Amino acid sequence: MPVPIIIDCDPGHDDALAIMLAAADPAVDLLAITTVAGNQTLAKTTLNARRVCTVAGITGVPIAPGCDRPLLQPLVVADDVHGESGMDGPRFPEPTVDAVPEHAVDLIHRILTTHPEPVTLVPTAPLTNIALLLTRHPDVVPYIREIVLMGGSTERGNRTPAAEFNIQTDPEAADIVFRSGVPITMCGLNATHQALATPEVVARFEGLGTDLGRVCAELMTFFASTYRRLWGFASPPLHDPVAVARVIDPAIVRCVPAGVVVELRGQYTRGATVVDLHRSLDLPVNAQVAVAVDAGLFWDRMIAAVAALGSRTA
Ligand code: BDR
Ligand code: CA
Repeated sequence: MPVPIIIDCDPGHDDALAIMLAAADPAVDLLAITTVAGNQTLAKTTLNARRVCTVAGITGVPIAPGCDRPLLQPLVVADDVHGESGMDGPRFPEPTVDAVPEHAVDLIHRILTTHPEPVTLVPTAPLTNIALLLTRHPDVVPYIREIVLMGGSTERGNRTPAAEFNIQTDPEAADIVFRSGVPITMCGLNATHQALATPEVVARFEGLGTDLGRVCAELMTFFASTYRRLWGFASPPLHDPVAVARVIDPAIVRCVPAGVVVELRGQYTRGATVVDLHRSLDLPVNAQVAVAVDAGLFWDRMIAAVAALGSRTA
């Protein structure tokens, strides 16, 4: 039986491919897409989710906008990484898939409490919506099978030397999620940096010969240019689909149990995930932490998803 999931995202080049993987892979059942402010403003991330669904032929999956700013601190978008639109690169047609008139937190709550089995949440963005859900509806915890998130790192950050973007954008929200008692899997930069969109990968997208394959190649080409400019990467990492891949097949992403806390006060380290891998702090174990990605399996699954969607839209 496919695992029922909800993606909470801020598209975003890599969020776009996470949506495609979740919509097409038979191992998961995508119940909803919710959006949040992060890589760009809420208006832009919601428009981008609609664009992705339109170009990929994803219909019948509700898209609901959520929080337009972090819980406490002002929003600082990642236009340096994702561009002015949040998904620069390809030209997208006018979206024909609409958002629904329900707040993301209300939609997630409604689905969780009415779905016949517990649902997995897959946040690939700042954790504002998820923290609000858990704060407003603490009774919802038993309805969540697990939270498999992209965020944090066991090593260095990307937004600051210590902190990864999704956690650093809303550290208070991340703190609420990591303390919630819900089973958590953290797919951080240390793992996602093993899923690199090399020129061979881009060629595989192009080789599909579909409009969607071309859009994916163009997204990866833009992403490659920012990763080269900002961090000197030869090829860009495709962060967000790694969290979806972990739900699809745990063998793709190897995890180890560890205690994880979010640094809220550090002068230079606010938003860092402190991962007690070797139990030196004796933190209670609250997460499975991704440490290794099987890149071969990951890309086969990602390309197969885009191929399946492309044949629907071709
Ligand atoms: C995360 O930050 C965003 O820019 C990406 O979409 C991803 O979710 C990586 O740090
Ligand atoms: Ca994202």
